[in-house]
Amino acid sequence: MIDGKKVLFSGMQATGNLTLGNYLGALKNWVALSDEYECFYSVVDMHSITVRQDPATLRKRARSLLTLYIAAGLDPKKNCIYYQSHVSAHAELAWVLNCYTYMGELNRMTQFKDKAAKHADNINAGLFTYPVLMAADILLYQADVVPVGIDQMQHLELTRNLAERFNNLYGEVFTIPEAYIGKVGAKIMSLQDPSKKMSKSDENPNGSIYLMDDPDTIMRKCRRAVTDSEGCIRYTDRQPGLKNLIDIYSACTGKTPEETVREFDGKGYGDLKPAVGEAVISVLKPLQEEYARLSKDKAYLDSIIKENGEKAGYYAGKTLRKVHRKIGFPDRIR
Ligand code: TRP
Repeated sequence: MIDGKKVLFSGMQATGNLTLGNYLGALKNWVALSDEYECFYSVVDMHSITVRQDPATLRKRARSLLTLYIAAGLDPKKNCIYYQSHVSAHAELAWVLNCYTYMGELNRMTQFKDKAAKHADNINAGLFTYPVLMAADILLYQADVVPVGIDQMQHLELTRNLAERFNNLYGEVFTIPEAYIGKVGAKIMSLQDPSKKMSKSDENPNGSIYLMDDPDTIMRKCRRAVTDSEGCIRYTDRQPGLKNLIDIYSACTGKTPEETVREFDGKGYGDLKPAVGEAVISVLKPLQEEYARLSKDKAYLDSIIKENGEKAGYYAGKTLRKVHRKIGFPDRIR
């Protein structure tokens, strides 16, 4: 609890260009949660180096992601928006937690197995212990809730196990975090292969709408979206491409899928697709304008980065000191 509010922690990696899926599935909901919770939204750049990165690109993308958080509507005065690498307690707690995590637990992580297969030439120890760093992120802030996608549930479960293990040994040190699965956290699929999540690392750029795509590109991608030959607008798992378009339209217009189906009753895919494009453009245009405006304001962004980095450091430091005391590290002499 901070000032009577429950604490929320989440983070995104600054790798790849953010997609409409990241926005509708995560960022947009983060904004909705920021009144109810005391929120920490991190740009988790330390996680990014588990895969080799070009330094200049990583730096640029990290700043761009932080700017996007704000452009999407997260008020940086209310929400602690900061770079993970600016708060050294993340690395420090991760080390401690590493010593309480079993190899067998990490061996079971499906994301590790997937990433190891994908990056067979660089299966580094960081990739293996990635979930421990994620646990440190969450536990440092005594987070009550963590909005995550289904792909991160296994990591969150590990975080809960580590917290419980630690508390059993040393008393109540960590808050046990719960997953926050958004009610409307639309899961947006690839426009080219609706069996796959829309992903910033997709090799086919037509599968994803990027947050910085211009209107013509958005329109083209929507028109080319894979559907089916049934030709009739319904909301069913048997027509996954169509279902995805209905989800996108609904999320962008604030309608329910049922309302969308009714709106397009008797119409064809040729009517729906451009309407989806328009709906997406009307959501992304203001976001892009705000992003452009913020990007020019270097002094403002720098001040946010500094203030929020210090704020995060304050809360993280409190937890870390408690952990150090519990495990028997000598007190610091002041
Ligand atoms: N692993 C998360 C992802 O790739 C990002 C992340 C890092 C995160 N630390 C976190 C998410 C803590 C939630 C809480 O999506």
